Amino acid sequence: MFQRFRRTRFNKHLRALVRETSVGVNDFIYPLFVRSGTGIKTEVASMPGVYQMSIDEILKECVELKKLGLYSIILFGIPEVKDSIGSDALCDHGIIASTIRAIKETHPEMFVVTDLCFCEYTDHGHCGILNGESVNNDATLEISAQQAIVHAKAGADMIAPSGMMDGIIEVLRNALDGAGFENLPIMSYSTKFASGYYGPFRDLAESTPSFGDRASYQMDPANRREAIAESIEDEAQGADILMVKPALAYLDIVREIKDATSLPMAVYNVSGEYAMLKLAGKHELIDYNRVVMETMVAFKRAGADIIISYHAKEVALMLQNA
Ligand code: PBG
Ligand code: ZN
Repeated sequence: MFQRFRRTRFNKHLRALVRETSVGVNDFIYPLFVRSGTGIKTEVASMPGVYQMSIDEILKECVELKKLGLYSIILFGIPEVKDSIGSDALCDHGIIASTIRAIKETHPEMFVVTDLCFCEYTDHGHCGILNGESVNNDATLEISAQQAIVHAKAGADMIAPSGMMDGIIEVLRNALDGAGFENLPIMSYSTKFASGYYGPFRDLAESTPSFGDRASYQMDPANRREAIAESIEDEAQGADILMVKPALAYLDIVREIKDATSLPMAVYNVSGEYAMLKLAGKHELIDYNRVVMETMVAFKRAGADIIISYHAKEVALMLQNA
């Protein structure tokens, strides 16, 4: 006797009934890139369909997102002026603080997550304060706490530190609690690899390091045990949501962390992953929509509860038309 697995595959309704994993519009966070000015909406060559936008354009974009049922966004800022410590990120009138206030005024129902890092704000493009050629961990923690308070006061709904500094979650939690923001959640970029897949993002956010690389703070893609320990440590420090980044090449890590934590988990489906599918789709090498959905299902199946993705709008549209 053998098992007839095919019995449950012949009818599409039965296939739907036995489907183990689903993707919904509520799973997504959509990244937005803000720069100063008005009427600016500049497409980035390496990321077709993704734009740098001025605040007025961001507000229009929120209208489109709401129509699609997408309410959660993550903000990245491109400041007018960069300096050695990323002052724009520490200022109540900086690009991100101003954007949060504008969104909260016009679209209060949007859920605004902020990427908390310094690489977009420093003239050297590294993720914190430099000490010689390396990022000084503890000095960066201090200005990170300041940045978190700037975001919180401006009205951010969740803070997402992405700089891979040790001890950051504990420091941010204490700083937020001390300022009366004990209910503001932290989504940690807890397991973030030093990845070539971030290439297009660095064009988009104008954050390519002016020298060296990020290997002294982001993780070695070869390390599995350390990847799990990084996330579990952030849980212990008080993170509310954990993350693995990039997503596609690290689904084994997503599953292992999922099995080791009870916290919700996010994946960041990064710029290089998006660009690969976009280009393959454009050249008709793949059925683009189908491959995008298959990829999203894979993230959920691996254990992700939340998907941060440049595909979010396309997926929302596919789900609306399904
Ligand atoms: C900032 C940051 C990066 C990304 C998200 N936050 C870039 C980096 O670490 O160089 C990458 C996102 C993407 O590639 O889509 N630290
Ligand atoms: Zn950074």
